[in-house]
Amino acid sequence: MVVYFRGMDFEETTNLMQAMMHSGELLTLPDIKVPKIDKHSTGGVGDKVSLVLAPLLAACGVCVPMISGRGLGHTGGTLDKLESIPGFRTDLTIEQFKRQLKEIGVAMIGQTAEIAPADKKMYALRDVTATVDSIPLICASIMSKKLAEDLDGLVLDVKFGSGAFMRDYMKAKLLARTMVQIGKRSKVKTVAVLTDMDSPLGICVGNSLEVMESVESLKGNGPDDLMEVTFALAEQMLKLGGMKGGRDMLAQKIASGEALAKFRQVVEYQGGDVRVIEDYKYLPLAKKKYGVPALRNGYIHAIDNYAIGMLLAGIGGGRLKKEDGIDPGCGFKIYKKVGDRVARGEPLAEVFVDRAHRIDTLRDTLRGAFSIESRPRRRKKMVREIID
Ligand code: URA
Repeated sequence: MVVYFRGMDFEETTNLMQAMMHSGELLTLPDIKVPKIDKHSTGGVGDKVSLVLAPLLAACGVCVPMISGRGLGHTGGTLDKLESIPGFRTDLTIEQFKRQLKEIGVAMIGQTAEIAPADKKMYALRDVTATVDSIPLICASIMSKKLAEDLDGLVLDVKFGSGAFMRDYMKAKLLARTMVQIGKRSKVKTVAVLTDMDSPLGICVGNSLEVMESVESLKGNGPDDLMEVTFALAEQMLKLGGMKGGRDMLAQKIASGEALAKFRQVVEYQGGDVRVIEDYKYLPLAKKKYGVPALRNGYIHAIDNYAIGMLLAGIGGGRLKKEDGIDPGCGFKIYKKVGDRVARGEPLAEVFVDRAHRIDTLRDTLRGAFSIESRPRRRKKMVREIID
């Protein structure tokens, strides 16, 4: 609580991070001879970047040992998304994880009990004492897990805006800078990319829907905002790994089908039903859908992205408490972003839900997340700044 109110200086934050990191095992990956680079996002709404990025980078020859989290509150989690693929397992042992990395260059698993166990306990404590929102505690928490992965490089996607942990840009920037400095102090090349979270990322929000959108992205049909963020992060990962080719190589790995083939391998290795890649009927998806039309003409000035994330959790697609289960099949498609023009009657969004919900209230709440005004508003750039 004192740290929450008084903060910590850089030295103190680094010391806490190291103590947390050494509370468990440090992963060693001596058999991997290519650069080992991971990406971590501070979390947001519709953020399915990892599902596209990890196989894409592995297709470029980078090893991606990805240890991800679950969704909580308004933010979604990579593990929940992957687990909407029937059979997909994220609870591999460290030995299985290492073998998969050696054989196919990418694995996507959950936090294990061996890595930074102090973080799990402290996070649970912060959760119930409302002390999560503290820059030094977030830095120590994230970096203690990432720096235990035996990485050569780490790219951080630090989000700001209405759907981010740190809504305020300057706070997000301070978080990014502190994490980059901590990474450097530990001799892991670290770069942070500050990206916009004022609108959901991509069109789909909800676990199965986001898997579909990720597969479409790997097939070359990704929405612009999602691909902009994915390519910006992927480029930084290639750079950290000392690999040439940049954006051209990334685009080529998608066009050639190699990135999709790598995703298929991940699904196969981790026990998932690979048929979902060709036919989305194998994913659990709500049968009923409802449109949410705009009630006036104008331009989208703001989206309460936090409200959209919480609404998803409210219909069962996310967690309000850590121990909650989730319904992978419900979600939203969000058709309008900040800066877009909209005509009365045009769909702002679509709701996918089967369980008995008051659909009119749901519709009104979702519609209420969009602020529409008559004067135009410019669309924002997705990538605001890169801190290295
Ligand atoms: N994610 C983490 O892993 N830790 C935090 O403290 C906040 C977000």
